[in-house]
Amino acid sequence: MTTDRLMALDLVVSVLTVAAWVGAGVAAAARRPRTAAALYAVAMVASLARIGSVVALSWAGWWFVQEKILVALPLLVAAGGVAAVLAGPRLFCAARRVNPSREADAAGPGDSAAPPAQDAVRAPAVVVSLLGAGYAAAAGVVQTFLIGYPADASSALLLLAFVAGAVLVTWRAMSAHVPRLRAATAATAVAAVLGAVLAFVPPTEGTTTQGTSAEGTNAEGISAAGAAQAHAMGDTDVRAAPGTDTAAGTHADAHSGVHPASQTHSVSGESASAVAGPDRPVTALRGPAAPPPGGSVRRFELTARTATITLSSGRKVSAWAFNGQVPGPPITAVQGDLIEVRLRNADITSGVTLHWHGYDVPSGEDGVPGLTQEAVPPGGEFVYRFVAAQAGTYWYHTHEVSDLGVRMGLYGTLVVTPKEGAAAGTDLTLPVHTFGGTTVTGDRDQPLARQIAPGTPVRLRLINTDNTPHRFTLSGTPYRLVAVDGTDLNGPGTLGRTGLRLAAGGRYDLAFTMPPGPAVLRIDDRTDSVRLTPASGSSGADTGDGSAGAAPAAGGQTADWPDLDLTRYGAPAPTPYSAQSRFDRNFTLVLDRGLALTNGRPMYAHTVNGLAFPNVPTEVVREGDLVRLTVVNRGRDIHPWHLHGHRVLVLSRDGRSPTGSPLWLDTFDVRPGEVWEVAFRATNPGLWMNHCHNLSHADQGMMLHLAYEGVTSPFHGAHSG
Ligand code: C2O
Ligand code: CU
Repeated sequence: MTTDRLMALDLVVSVLTVAAWVGAGVAAAARRPRTAAALYAVAMVASLARIGSVVALSWAGWWFVQEKILVALPLLVAAGGVAAVLAGPRLFCAARRVNPSREADAAGPGDSAAPPAQDAVRAPAVVVSLLGAGYAAAAGVVQTFLIGYPADASSALLLLAFVAGAVLVTWRAMSAHVPRLRAATAATAVAAVLGAVLAFVPPTEGTTTQGTSAEGTNAEGISAAGAAQAHAMGDTDVRAAPGTDTAAGTHADAHSGVHPASQTHSVSGESASAVAGPDRPVTALRGPAAPPPGGSVRRFELTARTATITLSSGRKVSAWAFNGQVPGPPITAVQGDLIEVRLRNADITSGVTLHWHGYDVPSGEDGVPGLTQEAVPPGGEFVYRFVAAQAGTYWYHTHEVSDLGVRMGLYGTLVVTPKEGAAAGTDLTLPVHTFGGTTVTGDRDQPLARQIAPGTPVRLRLINTDNTPHRFTLSGTPYRLVAVDGTDLNGPGTLGRTGLRLAAGGRYDLAFTMPPGPAVLRIDDRTDSVRLTPASGSSGADTGDGSAGAAPAAGGQTADWPDLDLTRYGAPAPTPYSAQSRFDRNFTLVLDRGLALTNGRPMYAHTVNGLAFPNVPTEVVREGDLVRLTVVNRGRDIHPWHLHGHRVLVLSRDGRSPTGSPLWLDTFDVRPGEVWEVAFRATNPGLWMNHCHNLSHADQGMMLHLAYEGVTSPFHGAHSG
């Protein structure tokens, strides 16, 4: 069974456990011994099944069960054990004595004529212990939903107080005399207050570096990272210091630690200063003024403003647009050119920046408001300059209020062709976006129709600018998936009748030779995006009206085509590092939902290690480090993970290494239950965002910073768009 299914099964079993315990307690209170006994039996079986489902889930990794094993199951076992002793024997004994046909008649509060068997099950010891087991089971569900990973002392105390409080209230309702009621109430209140205080008081330096599993969560005082990051949690291996290559949360790392905020503080003494040199502000990490020899300068001017744009069908949508068009003007260059983009903001009141998605620009050009620059206000401008060093398919978008800004249309394409000359033929860049439920390709809400001479090489550059994955199919021709996220694959084989799932933010380049018949690119098995038909004459003009080129031979049923597994596609090739390498840093990000503070507001956030931005500790690296990132999804949503400024090499997904081409990605979908291990070499000094590219998840807390030692930011750092 997949981890995703196991998580769902565990949830079903835990809800059933709650229902059965509570039901047994209610039936006992209502003087129905047979019903109560039956539900009690179900509750016992469900509780054992719960233990089984948690044990099964533990094979997927400690991250999936940590709070269940440390808190939920002990609570359930303890409370279920008490109920088994106090309620079990009496229930079965009473159930045997009562006449089934009389049970319902006799039931009812205050029925003094009820036979003794019925009265016996209404004893406080029976009812309270059954309901207590129900509360304990419910606490486990609450914990998984509201708190998640990692459970700490604070959440354990709060849950304990919740269960104890509910038991006391029930007991008091059942009987006038509750032994030691005052003492028990006081103890419950103390647990609740202590739990609440622990939740809001960030641990001090001493507490975070101690303990069996503290890997010294980083709270490095880089000014950009924000003061709030001192909140560290116990047993993740997100750490600041140069570490040994250890498994997550297994032992304390002597070098790790939490450091007081200080821009001159180096993580591990002299060697850090020797390597990192003096502090540099991120604003000094800018692109060059002139291109390298042989390159030319490519100048663009983009002005952001609110606009009403007209889609190809004539439908109008109100948008935020660059130069009045959605997508914004395509930015193109030849490898080795200098790209210079002057961004102006006419009237976007929340501000605008330009982020070059997937492009490893100098950090000061990365366009992250509050980290690498201030957002450009209405009337303001900012000039970006960077060398087009990487060939391939990329895109740009605003990073200020990016969930709204990108959704409204502040994005465009960035395509860099290799120096050796772009391949001849037809090259279509196809950014896909959804406006109010309508999926558009470029600015077309109708299929793009092209006539192309058979035999012509065709390249389709698919870009997913939405928050969720899209599934593409290409019918009518065999093709190859030649590049992913801008990087060429090694030895990609021929594909046909295949679904291609593209992560939010990701790019796929498809290549084929125009066949003698039509070819159709379809999105999500319903929207025809591109229809290519063989040119009858000589020209390959865009017919433009969306009605020409209907392709009956292509198209057809695509929903049942199997999805391509990228980790098994193409041919292996040597990589500069692998899963066997020795890593200088290991970071683990456990993605989930839970109650957390984000930008000072408590909310049901999208969390990283139980915390939400800006409270997720910054990952600190040193230039040259080999870094391993483990990303775990224990939630119900897909999280397209995206690191700025670096491509990452996929080491494994769910413990299995890719068997096909090496995969260098900047955005990868971590689906529910999945565990991805990726690696990168820290060669692009700066301050970088590391976030979910479902931008509404990012907005609700699912982001953090990756900072190079010695790089500082003069900006407030409190939000990053
Ligand atoms: Cu395309 Cu920070 O994102
Ligand atoms: Cu997400």
